[in-house]
Amino acid sequence: MNKSITVLGFETSCDETAVAVVRVENGVPHLLAQKIYTQYDEHFDYGGVVPEIASRAHLERLPTLTRDVLAETHMTLQDFDGIAAAIGPGLVGGLLMGSTYAKTLAMAAGKPFVAVNHLAGHALSPLLAENVPEFPYLLLLVSGGHCQLVRVDGVNQYETLGSTFDDAAGECLDKTARILGLNPASGALLEKLAMDGDANAIDLPTPNVAGLDFSFSGLKSQILRIVRAEEAPSERFKANVAAATQAMVSRHICEKAALALQQTGLKTLVAAGGVAANKLIRTELTDVATAAGAQVAFPPIALCTDNAAMIALAGALQFTEETNDLAVTVRPRWPLDDSAHTTTEKVNI
Ligand code: KG4
Ligand code: ZN
Repeated sequence: MNKSITVLGFETSCDETAVAVVRVENGVPHLLAQKIYTQYDEHFDYGGVVPEIASRAHLERLPTLTRDVLAETHMTLQDFDGIAAAIGPGLVGGLLMGSTYAKTLAMAAGKPFVAVNHLAGHALSPLLAENVPEFPYLLLLVSGGHCQLVRVDGVNQYETLGSTFDDAAGECLDKTARILGLNPASGALLEKLAMDGDANAIDLPTPNVAGLDFSFSGLKSQILRIVRAEEAPSERFKANVAAATQAMVSRHICEKAALALQQTGLKTLVAAGGVAANKLIRTELTDVATAAGAQVAFPPIALCTDNAAMIALAGALQFTEETNDLAVTVRPRWPLDDSAHTTTEKVNI
């Protein structure tokens, strides 16, 4: 039987406001349209995301982004099977803006609302790649807020194998970018700067944590000390620090990914989240997978950082005839392997 599910999805958990349409046809996902607004200017002067400002910016942008996505796809709200939004984890204000907006549209159109875990979006985002991974796979989720190894057996089937004791990989890259004067603090700018640097010119400590967990705080503190000790940091010095940081972050996550492949025997490695956009990290993870006799898959670069395509996709994949999560509220802290949200309450309006 031909089965097609089309979902309008919203992402507002941090500083990206995004709206997308995804159709899953006979199990094959297609991204039909997406609009993303990144709030650089709003937070520029503060050196980090200001939750209150982020919430207001989401609310200002949601209507126009939605209108643009509908115009591009020539669709109306009636054309969707469901309307999905990330309800956690993330900043409570932003989550409330996106999910309340999505619920309102769903109620106005008489369509079901689908509550999506932002991390499930990242976990499933490689299914939007050309080279689609098959379940089960080992997920390395590396973003600004998370650093985890997860066994993914299917949609809503996640088992966390390891996570960070302190900072996330992206946080370490962002803090380094900031102390090097890159603003907005961003791993993408650090990657660019690292291209002119020599990773061996700066001596950084290798994080030492047992098992499948991570730690980046010692590395971050040492980078801070090295940069502060340099009286007049030259461009060459900054590039070297960027290259050494990127190399050490890559080394730490590659070491853990290799161990997880060995321990689980899984034959597919998938990396997702903003840090998975990094070219060195992609290359080194590919080498790790090859050495373990495993396949490797990544989302398209544009779908590594926060986006609504992954939310619409997760919404479409978890969608059933019974779905309607109108009664579900936001969960600013929501581990990927806690499936309590899937309790669906019927709300008749
Ligand atoms: O997935 P994401 O947009 O947000 C979270 O869910 O946290 O990830 C953002 C993180 C930031 O820390 C950013 O610096 C990092 O991803 N990032 C990168 C690159 N692009 C974004 N890190 C390394 N190389 C990149 N090209
Ligand atoms: Zn994210």
